[in-house]
Amino acid sequence: MEKIDWKNLSFGYMKTDYNVRCAYKDGKWGELETTDSEFLNLHMAATCLHYGQEAFEGLKAFRGVDGKIRIFRLDENAHRLSSSCHGIMMAEFPIEKFREAILKVVKMNERFVPPYESGASLYIRPLLIGTGAQVGVHPANEYLFIVFVTPVGPYFKGGFSTNPYVIIRNFDRSAPLGTGIYKVGGNYAASLLANKKAHDLGYSCEFYLDAKEKKYIDEAGAANFFGIKNNTYITPLSTSILPSITNKSLMTLAEDLGMKVERRAIPIEELETFEEAGACGTAAVISPIERIDDLDENKSYVFSKDGKPGVMCEKLYNKLRGIQLGEEEDKHGWITIVE
Ligand code: PLP
Ligand code: COI
Repeated sequence: MEKIDWKNLSFGYMKTDYNVRCAYKDGKWGELETTDSEFLNLHMAATCLHYGQEAFEGLKAFRGVDGKIRIFRLDENAHRLSSSCHGIMMAEFPIEKFREAILKVVKMNERFVPPYESGASLYIRPLLIGTGAQVGVHPANEYLFIVFVTPVGPYFKGGFSTNPYVIIRNFDRSAPLGTGIYKVGGNYAASLLANKKAHDLGYSCEFYLDAKEKKYIDEAGAANFFGIKNNTYITPLSTSILPSITNKSLMTLAEDLGMKVERRAIPIEELETFEEAGACGTAAVISPIERIDDLDENKSYVFSKDGKPGVMCEKLYNKLRGIQLGEEEDKHGWITIVE
């Protein structure tokens, strides 16, 4: 077996042994199938290619302190995929089949689950696409679910270390009544230019304001936002952001830590008042924010003056990682152990 440098993995694609697939035809889902091929044989008029009938998920498996493999909040991802499918008129993948497919793909690629203490994890990427041919703008009548895995390191530079972010005002990622609440490929296509702009300027990632009023902070291109002040965890309530499972978990953990939790619109000026801030997501975990620059307004909101993550960010991070690695009791029932 090739040697993997677990400690220096980036967030990228690496070929693993198998992926799991399931096709929808004649109004029903078939059996799960396993393949070692990385390729698809796809009709050129498939709706995923023309009309964006594509949704995906992202979840992780971890090698715990006891050597067991743990998958984090798998049912939440199953439900969000269903919601995304509903949102763009694709056949919904049954929750039980999702669970079965995820367990199967992790088990079959067990040798790619990074060791405990490597800091790396196995990223699980389910996707669902319209494969049926259409030329008029209509939903397909055939679909394909695929799930592959790849070992990954941190999404943002340094993992749990502070980075600068930037508000990009002349791009919107999604509209208030659009597809931002779904995890569909089109949202990410819409973010590529703004993301490149942010990277070219030396930032980790772009932040979007609400598309309608440009008054409130929405989220980053690949993570939700939270701010902390007065022992309160505050995160945006918006109709155009992805309902992050990490954020939902952090709200629970913040309450467990005796913090108050507020989910509400966050006016941009309020950034000034936060003691700490972070970007959160499956890939990002918690990425503490050093500062957010609002270049068009010539403003800089600084959350870490010494370049270190804040105390509450660190507490939340340790709780979350502790549960994922089996070091902390899973008292909310978030973990599926791969037997
Ligand atoms: N927001 C966006 C736009 C994302 O792509 C992601 C990543 O999945 C998140 C937030 C975080 O969501 P989750 O915590 O469910 O991974
Ligand atoms: C995730 O956090 O799982 C994501 O999907 C973010 C990004 C890689 C799209």
